[in-house]
Amino acid sequence: MRPGQDISRYTAWFRNYASSFCGDDGQVWDACALKTRHTFRVMGEIGVLGKSLFLSSREMRLARMMALLHDVGRFTQYARFKTFVDAVSVDHGDESAEIIARENLLDDFSECERRLILYCVKWHNKKEVPADASPEEEFFLRLLRDADKLDIWRVVCAHYNGKMEAPKETVELGLPGDRSISQNVHKDIMAGGIVNSLDLKTAPDFMVLQMGWVFDLNIDKSFVLLNKRAYLEKIARALPPCREAREIYQKVRSYLDERLQGKRETKAVSATGDANNG
Ligand SMILES: [Fe+2]
Repeated sequence: MRPGQDISRYTAWFRNYASSFCGDDGQVWDACALKTRHTFRVMGEIGVLGKSLFLSSREMRLARMMALLHDVGRFTQYARFKTFVDAVSVDHGDESAEIIARENLLDDFSECERRLILYCVKWHNKKEVPADASPEEEFFLRLLRDADKLDIWRVVCAHYNGKMEAPKETVELGLPGDRSISQNVHKDIMAGGIVNSLDLKTAPDFMVLQMGWVFDLNIDKSFVLLNKRAYLEKIARALPPCREAREIYQKVRSYLDERLQGKRETKAVSATGDANNG
């Protein structure tokens, strides 16, 4: 690691904080271990994406801090509610931002940097990037959201392939195993939009929502990694064999192909203010 990027003090805090929730309960331990592994993988992903964008060491340090802290609220969420489903517990982005502020964690960052980290952590899990985000907020938020998605795809694809790294309820949201795709979910994604979580009725609906994240991806390198790791294909194979599933796969696949061929504009290109909403 280059000088100026060191965040080992915060990494040590995070490990200590996460393990304080583990306890003796096997289920809680698994849940904490899952989120700890996810956190470090998101840090890895954000490093790869940041490198592809030639981020400065200051920008890289900020990005890695956001990744380290983005899900810190998952531990209190699970301890209190025994679930990672925000809709029936707390919004974990909000919870994470509150914990960072309460723990007074970011004391060797400037006031501006602290606000930026808190902003990105708070908004990393929301349906969309806020329209009033500043160019810098938008850039880092899109970067974090991409890194987060890349690792969530890995976790869910492993689950669909029978490798149960995550509890079933986490990956399938406790939705019924009904093998159909709801009409509204099909409609949302065919319109090129993000699936509304309120429309989720079945486990395949949630898989379709995960495929739709491709429309919310931003960095060129993220599209390259998504393609290389074949996450869309892995999810598509787990869908029921029906016309809707085939149409959905074709839709997301052709969007990915267009992005790979550079036929669509990037939404955020630099941290210095020339982001666009393309
Ligand atoms: Fe999250």
